[in-house]
Amino acid sequence: MDFLRIVGGKRLHGDVAISGAKNAALPLIASSILSKRVLTIDNLPHVKDIKTLLKLLQHLGANYKLIDNKAHIDTSMINSTTATYDIVRTMRASILVLGPLLARFGHCEVSLPGGCAIGERPIDLHLKALQQMGAQINIESGYVVAKAPQGLRGATIIFDKITVTGTENILMAAALAKGTTTIINAAKEPEVVQLCEVLQDSGVEIEGIGTDEIKITGTERELLNMKDFSVIPDRIEAGTYLCAGAITNSKIKIKNVIPQHLEAILVKLQQMGFEIDIDNSSITIHPASKISPIEIVTSEYPGFPTDMQAQFMALALMAEGASIIEERLFENRFMHASELRRFGAKIQLKGNIATVFGPTKLNGADVMATDLRASSALVLAALAADGTSNVHRIYHLDRGYENLEEKLQALGASVERLQE
Ligand code: EPZ
Repeated sequence: MDFLRIVGGKRLHGDVAISGAKNAALPLIASSILSKRVLTIDNLPHVKDIKTLLKLLQHLGANYKLIDNKAHIDTSMINSTTATYDIVRTMRASILVLGPLLARFGHCEVSLPGGCAIGERPIDLHLKALQQMGAQINIESGYVVAKAPQGLRGATIIFDKITVTGTENILMAAALAKGTTTIINAAKEPEVVQLCEVLQDSGVEIEGIGTDEIKITGTERELLNMKDFSVIPDRIEAGTYLCAGAITNSKIKIKNVIPQHLEAILVKLQQMGFEIDIDNSSITIHPASKISPIEIVTSEYPGFPTDMQAQFMALALMAEGASIIEERLFENRFMHASELRRFGAKIQLKGNIATVFGPTKLNGADVMATDLRASSALVLAALAADGTSNVHRIYHLDRGYENLEEKLQALGASVERLQE
């Protein structure tokens, strides 16, 4: 198994180019199931989760070619609608094939994704919504067995909780349904917006894009003449590199970004004392003379993203005072706290509230990644710690960060990937 060896305490400098967003690419790859033509998707990040979903489509009978960051996906040959446990268990976002497969073929069997380190992560809202659209849904030996032989019909769906992939599943199901579907309390993340825009460009009538109420008029199982497109930049990767600059008190520039997708992150960095320069596709962060403590409550977009919570917990260790972090979306997303303590961090956990005491002098340590974003927080702490750290189980990192060590090395960090 690979691990990262990091010698910390160094200032960073220079520029880093941000890759395409994993969480935009995943639903967009799934939407190729709705397409009557070969779909070309550009700016795909070379990360494990993308490969996993492409393999799943291939397993269903689709073909794809991945050349550099471009995928050409042909789903015309799909001859199976069963997403098996061995693939789905490696990536719960595989659940994103449920809506499109059911809408196109009238039946599918998708293994229940199960929970993950950060929480139970149920899909009850996805299933309830599909039932409202006329699907029969049963759970049989760990699989969601969904049937809609007459096709899906439009319905008014109210999500009791805002769900990103739930909204995306229903958007894709509604695209081929008969009649109009209204999603109330829809997710508004930029990744959801891009899926809406791609579907709209492909001929699906959609109103309310980017709002919490979206109306979709389906094509009654007429496959879509999908247009090629490029995936939006990854706002979480961007935020992670800004934190790398902040935690080492460096001046760095991140390029190929959409600044307004990072608004909540930038406001928090500015409140902590970091000066931020923004132009239309890049952001520069400058060192802070004094790093102030921060209060963070994670919430759905455009609020502070839960996927940046771990990174800010690491950064808060540098602040002069106590920071308060409240995690409102997932019930177990503080596992990085115990690993951060190994660097010398002082963090108090009480339910879903963490109090982070700073400033803390961090010393290099051996630590273990537990989930994707927690592992990036450990890398950030290692960059700031004196001495050498080893971050183990970095397969978590490889799920969502393209060329992480190369990008950090280019910024002047001492990072190398070694084998256990
Ligand atoms: C998406 O997960 C992201 N993944 C997650 O990013 C992100 O943390 C999350 O949204 C929140 O922003 C992808 O987009 C592939 P949810 P998702 O459904 O859709 C509850 C990363 O690091 N819920 O919005 O699975 C759920 O338990 C990953 O890239 C139900 O109760 O999250 C959670 O408390 C981690 N029932 C809340 O809603 C449901 O049917 C939000 O979950 C669905 C969700």
